[in-house]
Amino acid sequence: MTATLETLRQWVQQARHLAVLTGAGMSAESGVPTFRDAQSGLWAQFNPKELATEAAFRADPQRVWDWYQYRRALIARVQPNAGHRALAAWAQRHPGRLTLITQNVDGLHERAGLDETIALHGRIDADQWLDRPRPCCQPDFLEDGRPPRCSVCGNLRRPAVVWFGEMLPTEALAAAETAAQACDLMLVIGTSGLVYPAAGLAHTAHRSGAQVVVINPEPTELDTVAQTCWRERAAQSLPALLAD
Ligand code: OAD
Repeated sequence: MTATLETLRQWVQQARHLAVLTGAGMSAESGVPTFRDAQSGLWAQFNPKELATEAAFRADPQRVWDWYQYRRALIARVQPNAGHRALAAWAQRHPGRLTLITQNVDGLHERAGLDETIALHGRIDADQWLDRPRPCCQPDFLEDGRPPRCSVCGNLRRPAVVWFGEMLPTEALAAAETAAQACDLMLVIGTSGLVYPAAGLAHTAHRSGAQVVVINPEPTELDTVAQTCWRERAAQSLPALLAD
């Protein structure tokens, strides 16, 4: 079934609790390439599965660090789009009714004014220690480099994102699970639904009795749990959907 804009607007307005799960497509209209789009995807030039792993970083820290610096520079140049802003404005107009769960590491939801997002895959603008920090590992005593390192023991700094094969932050995942169970409507925006456990949240919402709406110009792996699939772009469609 394809619901009309008017029906979807009613679902949003009537939802006691709205959970929103976003992926790379959310930021596509800001100019951040997605992971899997054939032409522009980050996988066209680089294979994140070969770069976004601890093993890749240990094998060639400079190569992986430089790839993150390239993405950080790209993200610093772009702005939140009308979709990010519409979600933030809705949350501000309806305090306590929206939980925003994102797979994106770009921080654009926060920059649009949404303070409390659940960032399942971390944040690209932060670093952390590669190995368990020793007393000498102080961010104030870094030796410059690509990547920077502890000037005493050589422990490397790495981006504070979740790499393939790593656990998601426990608290963030638990909060996301709770929101997926408690919501009565989940909007699944701009994600291919291929990466778990994030994609599993849509299944959880569906099993818990929520309506699930996929907003994506292309078919996704999560269409099967959706009440309706809205074949729209995020920045183009969200302002109308979320207007009161
Ligand atoms: P993908 O690149 O897999 O999927 C992007 C989705 O966005 C696709 O389904 C597109 O059709 C859709 N899309 C493109 N433009 C859009 C637009 N303007 N509006 C709405 N949708 C649009 O990205 P993710 O699903 O986010 O993980 O990928 C999930 C995870 O895989 C990422 O967080 C990352 C990656 O490997 C880690 O880095 C751990």
